[in-house]
Amino acid sequence: MTNDSKYDAVLRTLDRERQARRSAEKIIEEKSLEIYLVNQELLELNQDLERRIAERTQAIEASKAELEIAKKIAEDATSAKSSFLSNMSHEIRTPLNGIISISELLLDEKLPEKAMGMLGSIKYSADNLLKIINEILDFSKIEAGKISFEAIDFDLHRLLKELIKNLEFSAKAKGIDLIADFDKDLPARINGDPVKLSQILTNLIGNAIKFTLNGYVKLIVKKSDTDLENGKMGLYICVKDSGIGIPKEKLESIFQSFVQSDSSTTRHFGGTGLGLTISKNFVELQGGTIKVESELNKGSRFIIHYPYSSCKKEQDSSESKPYEFIPLPIKVLLVEDNKLNQFVASQFLHKWKSTVDIANNGKEAVYLLSKNKYDVILMDVQMPEMNGLEASRLIRDKNSNVLQHNIPIIALTANAFEKSRKEIADAGMNEFISKPLRPELMHGILKTLTLDRK
Ligand SMILES: Nc1ncnc2c1ncn2[C@@H]1O[C@H](COP(=O)(O)OP(=O)(O)OP(=O)(O)O)[C@@H](O)[C@H]1O
Ligand SMILES: [Mg+2]
Repeated sequence: MTNDSKYDAVLRTLDRERQARRSAEKIIEEKSLEIYLVNQELLELNQDLERRIAERTQAIEASKAELEIAKKIAEDATSAKSSFLSNMSHEIRTPLNGIISISELLLDEKLPEKAMGMLGSIKYSADNLLKIINEILDFSKIEAGKISFEAIDFDLHRLLKELIKNLEFSAKAKGIDLIADFDKDLPARINGDPVKLSQILTNLIGNAIKFTLNGYVKLIVKKSDTDLENGKMGLYICVKDSGIGIPKEKLESIFQSFVQSDSSTTRHFGGTGLGLTISKNFVELQGGTIKVESELNKGSRFIIHYPYSSCKKEQDSSESKPYEFIPLPIKVLLVEDNKLNQFVASQFLHKWKSTVDIANNGKEAVYLLSKNKYDVILMDVQMPEMNGLEASRLIRDKNSNVLQHNIPIIALTANAFEKSRKEIADAGMNEFISKPLRPELMHGILKTLTLDRK
């Protein structure tokens, strides 16, 4: 090959390489452009996504805020309803308790048989009405999350026996056998809330009697075989009847408020449909369980696992004896604005041989205390003119003109507006009794603060 042709070959190769490089560069350029465009698209997509996320977040935040507002409105409405119900039930309960107490006092008198019969009916109706009011009050407390449970030692045997005794009458009236089956190993005394336990059992046994036309109602109580979740000891309680039963599809819903298995129930059997809701809440809020088994026209079984604790104190043997109303020859100042309550309390006091002066409010009480001496004061808390707390502070004030600054003062509080123990103690009062007045409690506290101190 000549030099010229060698040179030409090199030039061609170079040219080919140049062309190859150019086309490679073109491809790279095109690809870069493609990548750039894709990148741009991705960027836009990303921005769009971010915008949409921001919009969604904003929408969620807005609906969260709306939900918060709706929740607050619902909570406020529930709380307003609860406080309305609790105030109303309180207003109704006060005169009703008056009617019941006076009926009880009258039933102790020797009245003609016909009057006794009528009085019995008044008492029965008033008791029924009180039961409904109390259920509404309990239900509104549950709804408002304001239910609390006592933890006191009590005699389980006595509670169960009294329960059966109280319900036997209505079972007998329907010709139904009320059978009690209590295990021998049952602890005699336990720690818990006796009032709530009574309420649960009274409703279940009351239901069983109500929904049984013939046959029996049986209460079985024994120590539970299975341990409860929280490691507490448990009672196995079963209320069994041979009654009308509950349709399968209603077994779940009967525990809901105001639900009765049949819409004609109220007409036939009475009741509001709150009993089981309250019982279920009382059992479950204490850590127990409740369930029902039933077959239409054969009968029902309500089974409860009820937690309890062992007693905190050794048994005080005097506790299980029936309470003895010994005479209380003391001088009492009763400070109370409600005429009916004045009447009921003074009837009890007269029965126990006490003498009573009545003041209609704190002001009158302070005046009487500047003239006379007494052994003890029963002082209502809510009163017009001067309430019980103000009056007590004045009595304890060494500069006031009452004759005895250290006289024992017992506060009478109405449950629904119950003043805290602290507020009562801070005003200088020694004890408190919640209304309706229970004679045993009132007598006991009066005795402790007067005769026992002498
Ligand atoms: N032992 C039972 N046998 C048949 N049905 C029952 C029994 N116990 C409850 N039920 C059904 O469950 C419903 C709800 O009972 P719950 O105690 O809540 O209400 P109530 O007894 O009707 O009214 P309240 O207890 O408020 O006076 C009853 O109305 C009844 O239909
Ligand atoms: Mg009931």
